[in-house]
Amino acid sequence: MRPRPAALIARKRDGGALTDDELGLLVGGYLDGSVSEGQMAALLMAGVLNGFTRAEALALTRILTASGQVLDLSGLAGPTIDKHSTGGVGDGTTLLVAPLLAACGAQVVKLSGRGLGHSGGTLDKLEAIPGLRVGLAEEEILDIAADVGCVVAAQTDRLVPADRALYALRDVTATVESVALIASSVMSKKLAAGASTIVLDVKAGDGAFMPDDAAATELAELCVAIGEGAGRRTSALVTGMDEPLGRGIGNALEVVEAVELLSAPPRGRLAEVALALAAEGLAGARGLAPAEVEAELREAWGRGAALERLAAMIAAQGGDPAVCDDPRGVLPAAPVRATVPAAEGGVVRRVPARAVGELTVALGAGRARKDDAVDPAVGVWLGVEVGDEIAAGDPLGEVLARTGAQAEEAAARLAALVEVGGPVSPAPTLRARLGGA
Ligand code: URA
Repeated sequence: MRPRPAALIARKRDGGALTDDELGLLVGGYLDGSVSEGQMAALLMAGVLNGFTRAEALALTRILTASGQVLDLSGLAGPTIDKHSTGGVGDGTTLLVAPLLAACGAQVVKLSGRGLGHSGGTLDKLEAIPGLRVGLAEEEILDIAADVGCVVAAQTDRLVPADRALYALRDVTATVESVALIASSVMSKKLAAGASTIVLDVKAGDGAFMPDDAAATELAELCVAIGEGAGRRTSALVTGMDEPLGRGIGNALEVVEAVELLSAPPRGRLAEVALALAAEGLAGARGLAPAEVEAELREAWGRGAALERLAAMIAAQGGDPAVCDDPRGVLPAAPVRATVPAAEGGVVRRVPARAVGELTVALGAGRARKDDAVDPAVGVWLGVEVGDEIAAGDPLGEVLARTGAQAEEAAARLAALVEVGGPVSPAPTLRARLGGA
């Protein structure tokens, strides 16, 4: 006899676990309407409060993945590598990692998301490039991957419909915050995207979903176990997100930064994380240790091969590839600029990622409501990072805004956010590594 949804929800409420079949009935029932929104919300809340077992997380991932289509990448020649970040501020790593891996012979089909809350999204950044399209049909995605080696597109409607439905409900019922639910949601999308090697960048800190290294490591460990359990080579890095990763925060600014970084040998924290992620991916695909592929990645970056792949990808997606020669000339820039001087000298102690992200959202770089348009041209260009020694009057950063009043307000907020004081030992950006050779 089919179990009643209420009886299964009660078991979860009382600390019990559900079987694969029972979870399948509930999720399937939610999609076909036989399990109500109220019942699904109750189940999710019971799980958030009491926890899901590892077996439940694995089952949920399988159910979410099987709810839609799985991309078939078997027609692509090179090793297929996918990369995912759990989201942060100034995190333009995809714009660096995807073309860098393509320059080393891999194929990267990256299905990305839009900005969420204070954190940016790769699709919004790419759409700052005039003409560029992210809404690609599956055939086009595969063609671009085969021709260029990398493609970054929006997830198609046919992939993981159950995750879309559940995520929308979790978002409005305060049930996002469960390691098992996040891991199954993230990994169902990665498994459906079809790559044989998966690299995860799990962010830890004030600007991330996971507040600290321990929580991020728990999530990373579960994601790796799910990926490996599904037969994909999977590894994860835990990286710091207490301060923005890059200097540019805002859609066009992050493209500018990616192009400028790829135009010279790798330098700074954003490049460090991008190189480490690319090394995980390439090494995983070849069955090597990351140190064994680092020289090849640095060489490809240094001779401009990754920048050239980025330009080819932009052109293939309808964008203006001249952005890779003259990013500041091609990309939109807001009309009002305000430089923010430091009120006092000392050592930069804190540049809080979440608050800086919220500041750029207030300027229009992100969304207050799901369907809002983003302004590609606004944002903040940071002049400092934690550990920098500065003098009074040195620029803490520059604000790009639509109006003088917005620029003034954002400049005052930025000046108040950056903490300057006595000596500090900056925490390393790369915190932990899980899985891989
Ligand atoms: N990102 C996802 O894709 N899913 C979650 O549950 C949380 C963040």
